[in-house]
Order: sequence, then C-alpha cells, then structure tokens
Amino acid sequence: MSNTIVIFGASGDLTSRKLIPALYQLHAKGRLPENTRIVGVSRSPFEHDEWRASLRETTSKFAGKSFSSAKWDTFAPSVFYQSGDIKDAASFQSLSDFLTEIEGGKTTGRVYYLSTMPQLYATAVEQLGAAGLASEENGTRRVIIEKPFGTDLKTAKELNASIHNVFDEEQIYRIDHYLGKETVQNIFALRFANSIFEPLWNRNYVDHIQITVAEEVVIGRRAGYYDTSGILRDMFQNHILQLMMITAMEPPARYDGTMVRDEKVKVLHAMRKMTGGDFASQTIRGQYRGYLEEEGVPPGSQTATYAALKLYCDNWRWRGVPFYLRSGKGMSCRTTQIVIQFKNVPHMMFGDKSRVPMGNRLVMQVQPAEGIQLHFETKVPDAGMKTRTSHLDFNFQDSIGGDALPDAYQRLLLDAVQGDASLFARGDEVELAWGIIDPILEAWNSPAAPPLLQYETGLWGPTEASEWMYNQKREWFDVCPVIK
Ligand code: BG6
Repeated sequence: MSNTIVIFGASGDLTSRKLIPALYQLHAKGRLPENTRIVGVSRSPFEHDEWRASLRETTSKFAGKSFSSAKWDTFAPSVFYQSGDIKDAASFQSLSDFLTEIEGGKTTGRVYYLSTMPQLYATAVEQLGAAGLASEENGTRRVIIEKPFGTDLKTAKELNASIHNVFDEEQIYRIDHYLGKETVQNIFALRFANSIFEPLWNRNYVDHIQITVAEEVVIGRRAGYYDTSGILRDMFQNHILQLMMITAMEPPARYDGTMVRDEKVKVLHAMRKMTGGDFASQTIRGQYRGYLEEEGVPPGSQTATYAALKLYCDNWRWRGVPFYLRSGKGMSCRTTQIVIQFKNVPHMMFGDKSRVPMGNRLVMQVQPAEGIQLHFETKVPDAGMKTRTSHLDFNFQDSIGGDALPDAYQRLLLDAVQGDASLFARGDEVELAWGIIDPILEAWNSPAAPPLLQYETGLWGPTEASEWMYNQKREWFDVCPVIK
C-alpha cells in the first residue's frame, strides 16, 4: 500500500529543521516505503517547486555532510504543497480533493502530522473528521500530535476527548521525541536483553536513581511559550517521566505497543502522590539569573527554569528507592543521563576507612557522547590494599562510528507510517503523567510554595540543590560527558 504523510504547520520551524530532513534521510537510506508522498499544509502561498527549493536549502544544512543532491532529486518529486487554513472547512475540502488526485484514488495509508500551534490541535482534528479525512474506507488513517499535549490534566483530558470524537486510540500517535532517541530505546535492550543487570535492578541493590536532563542553553527567544510553560511542563511531564517509566517498568512479555505501554502506565499508577509538606521537602525550583531580562519575559516572573524532584514508586520492585529527577536551562553543559546508584558494600575493609567509596554505579549516557559506563572499585596499583573508583566505558561513536545515530524523528515517523505505536504516548499515559505534575504546579503557585532559588548560569543549578542531596548523604552525578 502506498502512503501519504500530510504535515500541518508546514511553514514552521519543526518541519524544515526536523521532519523533512528525517524523511529525506529515510528516503536516502531506502527505508521510506515506496510510493510515499509528503504534503505540506499551511497558510502561506507556495508553489510545489518553491517549497521544494526552500526545503532543499534547509535540509542540506541540517543533514550536513550526508546530504546528496542526487538523492534529493529522487526525493523532491514526492513532496507537495497545499495552502490551507486550519480554521477553514473549505481548505480541508480542497485538501481532500488534492490528496485523491495525487493518490490516483488508490487505497493509500495516510498519516496526518499536527505540527501547528497546540491551540489548533482540536480544531484540526475536528476538521479532518468533518471533511471525511479520518474515514478508513480507503486505507489506514493515523494522526501524529506534537507536544505539548495539554497544559494540565484538565486540558489534556479535553484534548483526548476531542480527538477521540474523530479517531480511535489505535489511530493516535502522541509524539515524545525522547522516545525516538536510540539511547532511550537502548535502555530496553540493556535491561531486557542481558541477564546480568536485571537481577540487581531493584530495591535490594539500588540505593537511588538519578535522571538528569541538563541544558546549557537558556530560553533565547522562546519567552512567549516558555514563560507560561516552565520547566515542569516543558521537560518533566513528558521527556523525564518517559525516561523514568522505561527505567522503572517491569519487563513486558512482548515488545509491542500495548504491552510496553501497559507496563509503563503501571509505573505511573504506582507513583506516590505528594501531599502537604512533601512539596517543600521533595521539590526544588530555581530560576537562572538573567531570566527576567530575557526578551519577552514579564517583570517579576516566577517561572521556574530548573527543578529537582524526589519521587517514589510504591511497588514491590522500588518501594523506598528515591528517584531524583532534575532538569534546568543554563546549566554547566548539555547532558542527559540516567544513573543507577547501587548500595555500598555492607563493610569496607580496605585502605582508608574514612573514605566512603561511591559504590557501584551504572550511567546510561543518553546524550551527547552516547554510551554506558559502569563504575566500580579497583585496587590502587602499588599502594597496599587501597581502592579507588574506576570505570568501564562503552561509547556508541567508538563502536559504530561518526554520525551513525539517527535523529529521533526518523524512527518515529517510520514507526507511525508502519503502524507501530510502541514509542508513542497513549492517552491514559499522558493523563497519568499530568496527574503527577499538576499537584506540584499547584503547590508552586500557592502561598506555601518552596522558594524560587536563583542560580548562576554555567553551573549545576541552585547550590541549595547540592546541599539538599548532601543532607540526604547522596551526591548528584555532576559530570559533563567528554565529546571526542
Ligand atoms: C523540547 C523542549 O521538548 O525538548 C525544549 O521544549 C528542550 O525546551 C528540548 O530544549 C530538548 O530536546 P533535546 O532533544 O535537545 O534534548
């Protein structure tokens, strides 16, 4: 069956920076199913060739060295442009006619990608339904929805309800681009394709887990979006909770969309809800110095650009093991890492008894310098019976070379075209995730909110966050990856 991918919001940044380069790369590698057409829709008027020419320029820039003019020339004829307004029913009628024309009336699978302003998601879906574009009489119909999916539990439920009026859950693909990252999928492989880690992956051996998504960049020109969103909505409700679910979930019986997501959802069900004093003792919020001077930030804004949370998962595997999640803009470096910190040995009999070894630690380096490190104690050579921490280092770049890790959107677009929803968020999953974040947002907006701590950019967030860990006899893994 042939396929058509319709991108709403075609003149936007995501389309030129990510979606078209990803589709081009898939085509260049011969992975895009034959007879796949791409139709961009947005309000600006463009001729097909004009749009193709502008995409060629951006794609060659983002694809870098791997761009080939010859491959582009075989890709470009399958790219089309149709101007249209999401609020206008007539635009959907013209789109429908255009799609029938280029598909030659043949049975064709369609994927509608909503990369528009989030306020338009519900309208776009309603219009697709009204124009008969969701009907599966002539092939499968799927819809991909970009983040943010709602701004709280209430709006996420409303959005789910409006989409379900038109599409069944099996047709809905909610994107979280972190799930498209190879190293995030590698967590499944590390945990469930090896027998040496899983027996230790529980409360008997693990002291705590740290998940860090640090960004060196500040908000730049995104104040309009960011100031109403803040770090919890922007990074925690989606990306960081996804990393946590995959780290904490039970092994599914099969790697498929239903089983994987059933297990992930169970983790969210088991998360302990924060109440009362928990918000002060288990959450830290910060704002980098200089945020208030960024263009477009309202005076006195209390929006957090850094957060650290201590969460618990109350089930047999994890009861009592803290999950420390943190993320911030304006941090020391860009790094996403998951650290499994194992318990110390019960009795240290070697060397300097006052030295508390860091114990065993597994670091999953999601990005950059993607890889895995295992930290353990070894004897200090030629120094009596003293030990020090050493590590084994696996690095994807060393093992497979250069730019071999594809961008997240390649995998996600291909999966959506092929009908594999394993790496997309399900409706109940998104709502449960909001159910964890909402109470924190509310507490942070109340008079009992913990203080908004200021921090200098270029460091690891507020110094109070390090003291907080230190007071719990733990330490953040503040290590920037070495990029070769
Ligand atoms: C986006 C957030 O979802 O993820 C951004 O809106 C953030 O604020 C980005 O910078 C991080 O993604 P990545 O893939 O660069 O880690």
